[in-house]
Order: sequence, then structure tokens, then C-alpha cells
Amino acid sequence: MILKICDLRVYYFLRDKVVRAIDKIDLEVPEGVVFGIVGESGSGKSTLAHAIIRLIPPPGRIVSGSIFFRDLDLVKLSEKELNKIRGNRITMIPQDPISSFNPTVRIGDQLLDVAIHKLGLSRREAAKIIIEKLKLVRMPSPEINMRKYPHELSGGMLQRAAIAMALLPDPDLIIADEPTTALDVTIQAAILKLIRDLVDDLKKTVILITHNMGIVAETCDKIAVMYAGQIVELGDVYDMLSEPLHPYTRALIMAVPRADREIERLEPLVGEPPSLSDIPRGCRFHPRCRLAKPICKREEPPLRYLDSKRAVRCWLYV
Ligand SMILES: Nc1ncnc2c1ncn2[C@@H]1O[C@H](COP(=O)(O)OP(=O)(O)OP(=O)(O)O)[C@@H](O)[C@H]1O
Ligand SMILES: [Mg+2]
Repeated sequence: MILKICDLRVYYFLRDKVVRAIDKIDLEVPEGVVFGIVGESGSGKSTLAHAIIRLIPPPGRIVSGSIFFRDLDLVKLSEKELNKIRGNRITMIPQDPISSFNPTVRIGDQLLDVAIHKLGLSRREAAKIIIEKLKLVRMPSPEINMRKYPHELSGGMLQRAAIAMALLPDPDLIIADEPTTALDVTIQAAILKLIRDLVDDLKKTVILITHNMGIVAETCDKIAVMYAGQIVELGDVYDMLSEPLHPYTRALIMAVPRADREIERLEPLVGEPPSLSDIPRGCRFHPRCRLAKPICKREEPPLRYLDSKRAVRCWLYV
């Protein structure tokens, strides 16, 4: 396992309430896969991503749990030790590439700056490696485009530059939080293919965060479905898509349009996700679940493993 998260809790302590954004998450990410984390807006996906690199903004805090990156517990590392991992062994692909670049500095100079100052390369080595990475992410005419300012590149090219930046230190784990949301649909597919290739060709591990089940279906090897700060189901993508178990996963999958699916089979999601400062008792999904039983209103179901790869948090499967 490249990443092993145990009993992680991350809360935001506001003046009048506590937002339990991540609550008792257990997760194992094996090496060399695209691992999808999917869930509605506000389910805690970005908080999870930020917790992994320990960049939770105040008033947020990791309350408990461990995050093992190989044999290092990231929660326990000092800032100095963490800086050897963050932006180095673990890097991020941003949601909106334009905001991750300085608008007044040429793209190539921003990449050079990281390669020289963060990686300690000479100028000549840095320039060579930057062209290499830009070619890897299939940036058209890299020598010309690296001389441009961020606003002179299209969204897709800018995202390629951001991915090149994430690849500079030759990381082991790359976290991509909604990497295609800001892009046109036509460009989304190319960027997702590129992310897929990072795993297939370069043997990287990618955590891909999205609210879009269609993206997950096309790009990921494994999926964890998040609901209200918890994982409600996880497993291999084929198993999850062909036989979703949790009523929430079923609703998400059924919402993806497909030509071969009968319209009757659509199970629309009704209602809203709960507020994470006022989480319902019992199963967090029960107010929206058509299959809820009395126990679902009373007790929280455990995340139960059905076999070594598949787990579900639902009283229907206990
Ligand atoms: N800086 C913050 N201060 C207070 N509450 C926060 C902060 N950041 C996130 N939250 C709360 O934590 C919960 C989870 O938010 P998070 O951004 O992790 O969700 P998400 O799944 O990434 O959503 P989205 O799909 O909209 O990006 C939400 O209830 C949100 O309001
Ligand atoms: Mg988010």
C-alpha cells in the first residue's frame, strides 16, 4: 500500500459549531492505480485531499487518526520532515490551473523556479527536465509555449503545464482534486487520458477526486464513494459499476446517462445531503434512502468488508 488512512477525523471548529468534514475514514490505496474518490459537493473530498498533505486551513484540524505514506505517518511528522514529502514525493494537480500560476511570470520561468529552488537542479539541468516533462504531458511546441504567460495558454494547455509541474520532482503519489472541472468537455477527456497514462506508463499512483461518476467509470481502477464525511462503499471499478450495493452508490451510478439503460431503472436522488455540523443519527444517508429500516435511523452502520476488496457501510449488508 502506498497510502493507508486509519480512523481519520478532520473537523472545522467554527465559533458556534463543529463541522465534522471527515469522520472515521479508513482507506487503503495500493500502488500503481488511479484511485477515485467520488461524492457530492460538501461530502469532504477536498478536506481529505488536504489532510493527506496536511494543508487543512484553519479553523480546520486533524483531530485524530493516522495517514501512513508507505511507513511514515504523515500526521506525526514535523513540518521539516513533511516538506521532504509534500510537493516532492506527493504532489497535487489543481482544480483550476489559472489560479495555480502567477499571472505575471512566464510558465517556463515558474517551472524553472521550482526545479532550481525546490529540487536544487542547475539551470541547465532544470531547463532540460522541464522540456522533458512538458513533452511527457504532450504540451504542443513546449519550447515556444514555455515562454508564454499563463493567460496566453488555453485551459487545456495550462492544465498540461500544471501536470508537468506536479511531475517535476518525479513523485510517487499525485492527488488530483477535480482536475477537469474548469475545462471544456472536449479537453476533459484528453486530460483524463493523460492522468490514466501517468499510471499505465510511468507507474505513478493517482488519487482522482471528482463529483462525476462518469469520470470515475472511465478513468479509475478503484473507487471510494464518500457521503457526509465518510466512505460508504469502496471496491474495484468494475465490481462497483456492475453491482453497486449502497443505495447512494446506486443512485450516483444510475444518474449517469447511458444509451442502453431503461429510463425506469433511474433511481433519482431525492433531498439534500446533511449539514456536517448537524449529522443525522444512525446511517447518515437514511433520510434520503428508500430502503431505510428502523435500525438505520438508530445506529450507524460499520464499514463492513464483504471480501478483501469490497466494503460497504449499510445495514442491508450486515
Ligand atoms: N475552511 C473551511 N472552514 C470551515 N468549513 C469548511 C472549510 N472548508 C470546508 N469546510 C466544510 O467542510 C465540509 C466539506 O467540504 P469539502 O470542501 O471538503 O467538500 P468537497 O467534497 O470537496 O466539496 P466540493 O465538491 O464542493 O469541492 C463542508 O461542509 C464545508 O462547508
Ligand atoms: Mg472540493
